[in-house]
Amino acid sequence: MNSAGLLQVIKKRRSVRVYKAGKVADKQLETILEAGRWAPSGANTQPWEFVVTRDRGKMKKVRRIYDNEWKERKKEDPIHYKGLKKDYVGDVSVLVLVCGDPRTKQVYLTTRQPGDREKLFQASIANAVEHMMLMAASMGLGTVWVSVREEVEPELRELFKVPQPLRLLWVVPIGHAKSWPKAKPRRKISDFAHRELCNPKKLRQDSAIRPWPKS
Ligand SMILES: Cc1cc2nc3c(=O)[nH]c(=O)nc-3n(C[C@H](O)[C@H](O)[C@H](O)COP(=O)(O)O)c2cc1C
Repeated sequence: MNSAGLLQVIKKRRSVRVYKAGKVADKQLETILEAGRWAPSGANTQPWEFVVTRDRGKMKKVRRIYDNEWKERKKEDPIHYKGLKKDYVGDVSVLVLVCGDPRTKQVYLTTRQPGDREKLFQASIANAVEHMMLMAASMGLGTVWVSVREEVEPELRELFKVPQPLRLLWVVPIGHAKSWPKAKPRRKISDFAHRELCNPKKLRQDSAIRPWPKS
């Protein structure tokens, strides 16, 4: 594939939050995992562990866990939680629970600060997730990066028997988009690329740093 083709896939990928029925074929799933496999990682630690499920019963439970959490948060903060539901989390052909093995941080011998080791660990796993999302997009499949917040983590961990010391970081549904979402706005290159020296004048005003979904 040439660079234009790769950029096309990168631009095509969207966070898909409404899915229709339809199987992700085993071969497609293997290719998506293969893309994750080749992600760069700090000191080549490959700290990811993926729990991959097609079990609709478990997905229903995942959906319930997210829904309950959402309802609880909405009681505390009805303004910011209004209208945003997480029912897409488990309504798909395949659900991937993205875990990480923090024991791999021991390999970062020349990185001593815990915060720096955490950075290497998180970034490495994020690379694998993004590789898989791009591969899925290239096949016309939808994905979305779903956060595992502390409020839902214990229940998800129990449901999928994720042992300590693994970290349970993200959930990634893979499926057929009901419709392909429109691209959200992106900042211009000239707004974020600082040439030679960082130019503080280019930084956004506080008022321009807006929370999703407004931005
Ligand atoms: C680290 C990270 C965490 C995210 N968490 C969530 C999430 O919990 N729920 C969700 O619906 N989308 C989540 N997203 C998706 C973003 O909202 C989405 O990527 C962004 O709005 C840009 O839209 P696009 O992916 O369609 O280009 C997350 C993305 C990233 C990279």
